[in-house]
Amino acid sequence: MRRFRRLRKTEQIRNLVRETYVTPKDLIYPIFVAEGENIKNPIDSMPGIYQYSIDNLDEILQQIAESKVSGLLIFGIPKHKDELATSAYDENGITQQAIRYIKSKFPKLIIVADVCLCEYTSHGHCGVVSGDKILNDETLPLLSKMSVSLAKAGADIIAPSDMMDGRVDAIRNALDENGFTDVPIMAYSAKFASGYYSPFRDAAESAPCFGDRKTYQMDPANGKEAIREIEDDILEGADMVMVKPALAYLDVIKEASRFDFPLVAYNVSGEYSMVKAAAQNGWIDEKRIVLENLIAIKRAGADIIITYHALDAVKWLEEI
Ligand code: PBG
Ligand code: ZN
Repeated sequence: MRRFRRLRKTEQIRNLVRETYVTPKDLIYPIFVAEGENIKNPIDSMPGIYQYSIDNLDEILQQIAESKVSGLLIFGIPKHKDELATSAYDENGITQQAIRYIKSKFPKLIIVADVCLCEYTSHGHCGVVSGDKILNDETLPLLSKMSVSLAKAGADIIAPSDMMDGRVDAIRNALDENGFTDVPIMAYSAKFASGYYSPFRDAAESAPCFGDRKTYQMDPANGKEAIREIEDDILEGADMVMVKPALAYLDVIKEASRFDFPLVAYNVSGEYSMVKAAAQNGWIDEKRIVLENLIAIKRAGADIIITYHALDAVKWLEEI
């Protein structure tokens, strides 16, 4: 009989043979910055998560800096929305202002800037709309302008999440032509059309006002296609690739780990909210579940995890 239990005998032996770790530096914490003043708006569907105006950001920035997570993923919420998402590439747009502010206060924090039009368009779609169609090629110049504008403001990493074809190539060229050859692209490569994003759409005020995102985001049934998407983003010049959501797509993360590129997993809003809701009801032990989920995502093969649990997780990691 093979006695596997020999290596489970004590805490010390279990520590000695542990295969997978989560450390603060693996984590990126998303934040929502709203245009206006004196805003600290709780998101009902995401307990513990708020929209902040820039004048109220210090509190959360301080916590992020002290937590030793690697950085933050920034989402701007503009007051003005229109058909062409003009606030997305306005030098004085909310996201650009927030990036400049964060850089001036916490220069070492990595700022990942989400690039997508949905928070900035009046219709809430991720691209330019004509009738009931989301146009691919017409969207690329806007995403490129937005990326250059965010890099100019001081973003360290550009993260396109729109799922238009060819956007990594377009953004890479635009960044290079504008002197940002050293700004990396973290591509949301395998982003699925998921029900797990709905709490985020409350937080970012970005729900589409007609139809859905199924003509650009991926069908949850397609694992092989996810690999083609990732392959293509790498060929177009992505420096890091992402699978999103994380927990229902661990098989995709595992497959994607065969590419020797930094692999990011986005533990999305719905995944967060389900854990929070069950914990608030006393049905699960939040700390255990969060750490187990994060370990599972890393065990599947992710190198980096974007998660709303990041600040709590860091505290709990210190306790173990
Ligand atoms: C914008 C974007 C979304 C998320 C990240 N960037 C929403 C969407 O595609 O509708 C989802 C993040 C989350 O659910 O936490 N395109
Ligand atoms: Zn979008």
